[in-house]
Amino acid sequence: MADQAFAGQPIVEPSTAPDDVLRIEHIAKRFGPITALRDINLHLRKGEVLGLLGDNGAGKSTLVKIICGFHKADSGSMWLKGKPYAPKSVLDARAQGVDTVYQDLALVDELSATQNLFLRREQTYRPLPFLAGRKMRREARAALDEIGINIPRIDLPAARLSGGQRQAIAVARAIRDQSEILLLDEPLAAMGAKEGAMILDLIARLKDRGDVSIIMIVHNYVQVFQACDRANLIQDGLITFDKPTAESSVDELNEIVVEEYRRARQAEMSGNGEASRYNAA
Ligand SMILES: Nc1ncnc2c1ncn2[C@@H]1O[C@H](COP(=O)(O)OP(=O)(O)OP(=O)(O)O)[C@@H](O)[C@H]1O
Ligand SMILES: [Mg+2]
Repeated sequence: MADQAFAGQPIVEPSTAPDDVLRIEHIAKRFGPITALRDINLHLRKGEVLGLLGDNGAGKSTLVKIICGFHKADSGSMWLKGKPYAPKSVLDARAQGVDTVYQDLALVDELSATQNLFLRREQTYRPLPFLAGRKMRREARAALDEIGINIPRIDLPAARLSGGQRQAIAVARAIRDQSEILLLDEPLAAMGAKEGAMILDLIARLKDRGDVSIIMIVHNYVQVFQACDRANLIQDGLITFDKPTAESSVDELNEIVVEEYRRARQAEMSGNGEASRYNAA
């Protein structure tokens, strides 16, 4: 199945590099009648930033949610540093070094910036079971300063923060955990130009450290070429493009996506639009 072209697109075969930290083969996921992921092959090398691209609804978030233990794949296999990897939950994945900033459920609205930063990572002074409030606030402030995001009142409920501030806290939280694999689902989506640049800088600094590997969902191709070492494109539930960004260009990616749009239009006009897109298998 994986060696056939789908809807005119080549399918990226399972492949591996000696320094892979994560490998995914033949992952599929349906939600009732909708096939979100058909047959996904992907690998992530140590210290690499991999950009995951694709249209709205292509399955990018679904794939991230499978890697982070939120969804279970219907079929397929994953390996973390060479060992079979099948996280039972988000906490289980985090315990194995895989941390996530979600596109949607990023923060708990009722909790403050500090409380969100330390959610399920609360610090207590032993043997007294009190939360070390002042210490956590100090560290929260330091963590946000490190990213360079300005949040005047870190004790306000997250519901009263802007979208960009919320995302900044979620990114700061994931970075603090010093996970080996970081999954960022559109970390720049709600950001202004300045905040977006700060997050990109932060990702560059993390990359320089060399011990964290990142999969990042990004829609803006310019940012892909700024931040990512390699790009993978999801189309029709398959990975159809896998290239180092140094060997590709914004034009090449645009061309592929416009071509997909043209094919879908043609299929629609010949009367099998949605069928060709989702139900051809
Ligand atoms: N929990 C769910 N239940 C039912 N369908 C879902 C669920 N999550 C995702 N889907 C469907 O699966 C497909 C892929 O969704 P997904 O959120 O992964 O897309 P995406 O590539 O992240 O899109 P976007 O760029 O808009 O965030 C969509 O058709 C979506 O409607
Ligand atoms: Mg998404």
